[in-house]
Amino acid sequence: MRILIVGKNGQLAWELGRSIPVGWQVSLLAHSELDIRSMDQVCDQIVRHKPEVVINCAAYTAVDKAEIDSATAYAVNESGVRNLASCCAQQGVRLLHISTDFIFDGKNYEPYRPHAIANPLSVYGASKYAGEQLVAQFLPESSVVVRTSWVYSSNGNNFVKTILRLAKEKPQIGVVADQIGSPTWAKGLADWLWAIAAKPEVSGVFHWSDAGVASWYDFAVAIQELGYEKGLLDKTIPINPIPTEAYPVPACRPKYSVLNKSTAEEAAGIKTVHWRSQLAKMMDELK
Ligand SMILES: NC(=O)c1ccc[n+]([C@@H]2O[C@H](COP(=O)([O-])OP(=O)(O)OC[C@H]3O[C@@H](n4cnc5c(N)ncnc54)[C@H](OP(=O)(O)O)[C@@H]3O)[C@@H](O)[C@H]2O)c1
Repeated sequence: MRILIVGKNGQLAWELGRSIPVGWQVSLLAHSELDIRSMDQVCDQIVRHKPEVVINCAAYTAVDKAEIDSATAYAVNESGVRNLASCCAQQGVRLLHISTDFIFDGKNYEPYRPHAIANPLSVYGASKYAGEQLVAQFLPESSVVVRTSWVYSSNGNNFVKTILRLAKEKPQIGVVADQIGSPTWAKGLADWLWAIAAKPEVSGVFHWSDAGVASWYDFAVAIQELGYEKGLLDKTIPINPIPTEAYPVPACRPKYSVLNKSTAEEAAGIKTVHWRSQLAKMMDELK
């Protein structure tokens, strides 16, 4: 199998890069080697590498910055995805694309299914939703869009590393307790993507995160507990639950963004694992 991965230096691409299935020919391209905003660059690279599958890990992921830089967010998350989808369609290449729980407005009371109605609250969420629609338009039968949430890995900047740093630097912290979702270790999503890459018959929209639910507060408490247990921290600090309003940020986030993963589990033949077990494994890597 020949695979081209775009967005090489991101968290998810890094996890894919270290878990390449034996015998597969996989090329990874960094932003500096392929800017998906350029149709010429996208087509040149796809023609040069002749992949059977492209996995798009490239995205504009600065959720708050997107509110004041919507042009760049849309240039990458909408136009860049259009370039990839249209070139994949021309060349007969399958596209696996990653999207986000932030396409939902968070007003649900049960885990979102893949065909639930989208209503993004932020520029980032809207730009990612626009990208999803283009993938479906250009590649209705040979694409997969997988929405995920609260992604972290041992490589990259993320909430887990921020909490570990703050626990060392601050006497106490407040963390939002009224936004509920599910953390996702990027390694688990990478394993799901490899399983799906091997199944050309799978197409459509799927949801993937780790199992279980948490608030950001619950997640932060678990990060500190496990960090202390594993010797990454030599003390603990008080972590206080606060409401969203007490931590003002430019982008509005969904209050509830738990995803229903059942069709993704079935399609790949892989069960989700509870986020706390996944977090423990990632933290072992940080030791
Ligand atoms: N992180 C999360 O919590 C989260 C949650 C839900 C969904 N997702 C989605 O999951 C996917 C992977 O996320 P991630 O956390 O791995 O993201 P990430 O670590 O921010 O990586 C994104 C990568 O995209 C690259 N990139 C940005 N603009 C580009 C362009 N124009 N052309 C080519 N590459 C470009 C970035 O390179 P530079 O840094 O050099 O610009 C970076 O290496 C994304 O689609 C994201 O929207 C993430």
